[in-house]
Amino acid sequence: DWSVDQVIEHQVAAIREQIGDKRAIVGLSGGVDSAVAAALVQRAVGDQLTAVYVNHGLMRKDESTEIERAFGASTGGAKLVMIDAEADFLSALEGVSDPEQKRKIIGERFIRTFEQAQADIVAESAHDPNATDVRFLVQGTVYPDVIESGDADGSKVIKSHHNVGGLPEDLEFELVEPLRQLFKDEVRAVGTKLGLPDEIVWRQPFPGPGLGIRIVGAISKERLDLLREADAIVREELTASGLDREIWQSPVVLLADVRSVGVNDGGRTYGHPVVLRPVHSEDAMTASFARIPYDILDRISQRITSEVAGINRVVLDITGKPPGTIEWE
Ligand code: XMP
Repeated sequence: DWSVDQVIEHQVAAIREQIGDKRAIVGLSGGVDSAVAAALVQRAVGDQLTAVYVNHGLMRKDESTEIERAFGASTGGAKLVMIDAEADFLSALEGVSDPEQKRKIIGERFIRTFEQAQADIVAESAHDPNATDVRFLVQGTVYPDVIESGDADGSKVIKSHHNVGGLPEDLEFELVEPLRQLFKDEVRAVGTKLGLPDEIVWRQPFPGPGLGIRIVGAISKERLDLLREADAIVREELTASGLDREIWQSPVVLLADVRSVGVNDGGRTYGHPVVLRPVHSEDAMTASFARIPYDILDRISQRITSEVAGINRVVLDITGKPPGTIEWE
């Protein structure tokens, strides 16, 4: 039996018990899970918590700015540190196309970046004895992350979520994961109860490894920029049509190693395809493709192929989960 108030009360007490008078940092992704985890921990230990947002260069268009703006509204003024780690992540990922290897590299880079943030916080508050003990890392891990990473009893690895199976072995942080037993709809209910704005609570899920796992093939700045443009058009059109809230998630995937022949203004093109992957789901454990009206699909296709040089074909993924997963990697 599950009541939102009970979950909040129970988690706040457990967090207080775990963190005590020490300091914690929370990695903020802009998504609902990390925002709700941050809000719970802030309720429990107040300004012992510092939020850290890492720009890994794998974010969507304008996302870093949106997150910074939404943050103030969502956490009632917790401390926020923005870190630009784009160069660092992209060089660690150079030439890597294996999905699990990408996930492990991204998971590890996140932790190394949080360690740096931890060192900076300690250095800046040398006058405060409690600040030297930034030992806790808050993560918005939810139950499906745990299951798919093969971390629940007896389950197999489907993919290593960056915050579970993608963590480095020499992790020194003690993890605080108040949402580890919850599904997304429960996380949203907790977020609403804690007073987070709808714009955060009803954001479509976006994976921590970001666009890095939506480029099939090796990741580069150029490829990311192509995908960012196509993705921005899809988001714009789905928002304009009012469909974005009823669609669980609508990834756009760049097939970076595939090219096909097309024609534009009477001339030959030889460009990449993008895949649209709009899905309906209750909890990300199963999904079915979202039946988006053809005229909206048509507008999306026309805009992407005319506005994004280098992409000359748009295809629609109509696979359920299972047997597909939502993300392609
Ligand atoms: P799949 O692709 O396995 O994804 O059907 C299920 C849900 O989880 C998201 N996802 C992730 N979220 N870190 C995250 O924070 C990850 O490493 C990760 N991998 C997948 C995915 O977007 C979908 O909502």
